[in-house]
Amino acid sequence: MTSAPRVVRLEDYAVPDWLVDSVHLDFDLHPRETVVSARMEMRRNPEAGGPEIVPLELDGEELEHLSLRIDGREAAPSEYVVDDRRLVLPRPPADRFVLETRVRIDPEGNTALSGLYRTGGNYCTQCEAEGFRRITWWPDRPDVLSRFTVRMEADAEENPVLLSNGNLVGSGPAGDGRHYAVWEDPFRKPSYLFALVAGDLGVREGTFTTMGGREVTLRIWVQKGKEARAGWALESLKAAMRWDEERFGREYDLDEYNIVAVPDFNMGAMENKSLNVFNDKYILADAETATDKDFENIEAIIGHEYFHNWTGNRITCRDWFQLCLKEGLTVFRDQEFTSDLRSRAVKRIEDVRNLRARQFPEDAGPLAHPVRPDRYAAIDNFYTATVYEKGAEVVRMLHTLLGEETFMRAMDIYFARYDGTAATVEDFIACMEEASGRDLSQFFRWYTQAGTPHLAISQDHDPERGTLRLTITQSIPDTPGQTNKKPHHIPLRIALLDGAGRELPLVTEDGRRLDDGLLEITGRRQSFVFTGVKERPVLSANRGFSAPIRLETGQGLEELLFLMARDRDPFNRWEAAQTVARRLVLDEPHERTQSLSEYAAALATVVRDLRETDPAFLAEMLRLPGVNVLASFLESDVNPQALHDTRNRVLARIAGTLEPLLRETFDMLAVTESWSPSHEQAGRRAARAAALSLLMHADGDAAARLARETWERATNMTERAMAISALSQSASPLREEVLDAFIGRFGDDHLMVDKWLAWHATWPHRDCVERVRALMESDWFSLKNPNRVRSLVGMFASANPVAFARADGAGFALVADTILELDRLNPQVAARLATTFRNWRTYEPVRRERAREALERIAASGRLSGDLGDIVTRTLGTA
Ligand code: BES
Ligand code: ZN
Repeated sequence: MTSAPRVVRLEDYAVPDWLVDSVHLDFDLHPRETVVSARMEMRRNPEAGGPEIVPLELDGEELEHLSLRIDGREAAPSEYVVDDRRLVLPRPPADRFVLETRVRIDPEGNTALSGLYRTGGNYCTQCEAEGFRRITWWPDRPDVLSRFTVRMEADAEENPVLLSNGNLVGSGPAGDGRHYAVWEDPFRKPSYLFALVAGDLGVREGTFTTMGGREVTLRIWVQKGKEARAGWALESLKAAMRWDEERFGREYDLDEYNIVAVPDFNMGAMENKSLNVFNDKYILADAETATDKDFENIEAIIGHEYFHNWTGNRITCRDWFQLCLKEGLTVFRDQEFTSDLRSRAVKRIEDVRNLRARQFPEDAGPLAHPVRPDRYAAIDNFYTATVYEKGAEVVRMLHTLLGEETFMRAMDIYFARYDGTAATVEDFIACMEEASGRDLSQFFRWYTQAGTPHLAISQDHDPERGTLRLTITQSIPDTPGQTNKKPHHIPLRIALLDGAGRELPLVTEDGRRLDDGLLEITGRRQSFVFTGVKERPVLSANRGFSAPIRLETGQGLEELLFLMARDRDPFNRWEAAQTVARRLVLDEPHERTQSLSEYAAALATVVRDLRETDPAFLAEMLRLPGVNVLASFLESDVNPQALHDTRNRVLARIAGTLEPLLRETFDMLAVTESWSPSHEQAGRRAARAAALSLLMHADGDAAARLARETWERATNMTERAMAISALSQSASPLREEVLDAFIGRFGDDHLMVDKWLAWHATWPHRDCVERVRALMESDWFSLKNPNRVRSLVGMFASANPVAFARADGAGFALVADTILELDRLNPQVAARLATTFRNWRTYEPVRRERAREALERIAASGRLSGDLGDIVTRTLGTA
């Protein structure tokens, strides 16, 4: 039995009847029984209207109710009703009154990691989206903004560090070996941004002087002894603060900024006002233990949470339907941050790869939903690739349509107008309209219509008249609950290339010149005619991936290879290479032979062309689409094992041809200067990793020896990871040997255990199922820690299609068993793991049946959490 799905609808939004102007929270911290007292200044919302007396309803979950006072006196039992989800005062005493509640909670017993819980021996909170109600009674919705004062008291020896939002305004001993601290946050905020941390932590400190001259103390709190590994996080924070000033004109607004790294965390990180809490895997880094990718992720996520201070905290969301208002926009901002600091082209490729691997499949399956959903049963399940990544793409399209300058003017209007409020997507778009003078009502459909638009372009060249006609048609597939969609407003950046790869001027029939190559598609079918086109040009379309669409240009191998070699838009160079590679795997075998050698030759040119000038980009060019991405281009009959085998045959042919060149490139790009996490060095290591991984497909033994040598000579984690990842794709006995050596050396570091588990979990072999089961039984694994679960079972399900979708259903069964067991401990993580079944209908019939059985077994098992029940019923289509 699933807990009754109470569906929440956007159209039902009503402003809150009651506001909490300010609150004093008092925490008497004890591991098994913490008492939370809240003193709330309640006020009728003048905007709400309604009858003279309106009940006050507060949310609560897993709270043991202790006492209730109204205006200083004990409330009579007849004055309120308490059940396991709500506290209701049917007849509040006046339009303003003081409500005092006391509850008892159990941090140690909190395995859901939502609310107040214990991690690494410390206390920590996670409140987004609806965790605050697991701490105290509250109108737990983001449009109730309050001033928070927090007093906490705890055992002084075990918890020397006491942190909350805002400024420390008092502290001292509290008797009995206990001490206290009082924190005051001058900014009104919704409950989801509340945070409290208490415990014994080490700190890495720094300062940042803002553009206005405010000196801010920055502190990164980590497990004691790991302070040295917080240096990169600290530098990243400074870089983020500087960047937000320079690019968005946004300054930090308090004297302190704290980040706490914890080992148990449901997500990556959380932007609580001036007290971010991070999964420690996105804080801790040094050459020995973190890869270049880890360094890049840390920089990006530190940036993301910092950028929320303006896009999320100062301006928050009116309701959870508006989640993309803060998340899509902030992902856009962190993408720009990384693009400005590193390589714009490489970042774009990484982001599109990620969009294709995670968002396109979501948008094409039973869990598809609009960037701004209009109904939900469990909000935890809407922190999705669609809200985040497609949400960021939508903001990027606005940026493309308006241009940097106008876009920034619109942002300034947004910040000025909505600071201190809880806003909507409509508010945001109104600022874009105001700054640009454009009508964005059609564009708004990107927020309300789910499904990835398909765009087809056909070309009609008339050499006599020197014209090229592009006819563009768009369609948007049906998605659950949505059919017959209206056309989107699509910014499509294009170029027409001459034989030397030069961009032709784009002049339309009426003599207008399109300097930026930007076409605006608004109809279902639309034509554009360009003049002065004597020779048939090569079309480069959707440059920089200007819109998140599936594009069909009908271009053949020759044109694609030309784009791969010559396009000056680096994204489209990569895109052309990916398209050819994809076709090599997906097309009929007899179409492959000729193409294969031409593709290999083109790739060889790319290697020579880029290895010295841009190895980071070369690395992307050398990474061929994986099985999951290949599968996402198929609508049905997916057989991951067959795709894997064909892909390997294609890789073997390519690698065989390129072997000497790859070997030479691998040697040539070795980094000889002292290690740094710089983008330059990282690029060289990435190109070497890509070369080595391709080499594994040529001559297994020679490459395995090279990988082993790489492992032995490695002086940093990136080089170790490159060796192990390469070996992980092989059947070489060296793989096991090196994995054993790795855990022997790094086994006492939980983040290294995660890496090791992930390598095991992604071994593309059917026997991986049994290996994962064995590891789950070992001491290396714990179902209580989300990082362990994601590294082993999450990676198995999402990044090992061969084993997960084993034809006998053993992989599906393993994941289903895990989901069921985990749901009793941590519903959020269990529900997320269940989304790995989202494309089950696209498998070939045998696998599809096995997947259905696994899903139905979950559905039938009784007592599912609301989060998991929601995913399973929608995935099965029984919602
Ligand atoms: N606000 C989220 C974190 C969050 C989401 C907490 C849902 C609880 C429930 C945070 O800003 C975020 O988006 N974090 C991402 C990483 C980010 C770089 C996209 C995450 O945790 O995955
Ligand atoms: Zn975020």
